[in-house]
Amino acid sequence: MLIEKAYEYTSISKSPRETTRLGRALGSLLQAGDVVCLIGDLGSGKTCLAQGIAQGLEIDPSQGVTSPTFTLIHEFLGRLPLYHFDLYRLGGPEELWDLGPEEYFYGQGVTVIEWAEKARGIVPGERLDIELKRLGEKEREIKLVPHGPRFQALLGEILENPLIRRHKKV
Ligand SMILES: Nc1ncnc2c1ncn2[C@@H]1O[C@H](COP(=O)(O)OP(=O)(O)OP(=O)(O)O)[C@@H](O)[C@H]1O
Ligand SMILES: [Mg+2]
Repeated sequence: MLIEKAYEYTSISKSPRETTRLGRALGSLLQAGDVVCLIGDLGSGKTCLAQGIAQGLEIDPSQGVTSPTFTLIHEFLGRLPLYHFDLYRLGGPEELWDLGPEEYFYGQGVTVIEWAEKARGIVPGERLDIELKRLGEKEREIKLVPHGPRFQALLGEILENPLIRRHKKV
C-alpha cells in the first residue's frame, strides 16, 4: 500500500522481510554523514529496519546487528562504517553529549539511532526520521519524514527503487 504526501512516504509493512527490504533499499543509498532516526515503541521494528540498512551498507551479516544491550553505540564496517545507536537505556541528554555524538553524526560513516526521540535537540537538523507503529501482529506502519534537501532527494530515490514501488502498489 502506498500513501504519498509531498515530502513524506508512508508504507505498510506486512512482514519483517518487507521491513528489512525497505531498510536495504535505504541503506544502499546512504552516504557518509547521513543520520537516520528511528522512532517507535518496543517491538515496532526499529532493529529489523536497521538490519536492512546494514545489508544495504554491505555489512556482513556475521557482524550481527542487534539491539545493543548495555552499550549505547555499536560500530560495524561495510562499504561505509555504520554507527548504530540504541538510546533505550539513555539516562539523559548529558550522557549522550559525553559520547561526543557529533564525531559520529558528521563523520565518515552512517548513523542510525533507535529511540531517537531521546536525542531531540542533539541530532542534526538535516536527517531522515522514520516513525514506526505496530498495527497488528505482523503489520507495521513505517513513515519516512525527510528533514532538509539531502533527505528529500534521498526519499525521491527510494521511491524510484522498483522493488519498493512495485511491492507497495499491489
Ligand atoms: N512487518 C514487520 N516489520 C518488522 N518487524 C516485525 C514485523 N512483523 C512482525 N515483526 C516482529 O516484530 C519484532 C520487531 O522487533 P525489533 O527488535 O525490530 O523491534 P524494535 O523496535 O527494535 O524493538 P526494541 O525497542 O525492543 O529494540 C520482531 O520480533 C519481528 O519479527
Ligand atoms: Mg531494537
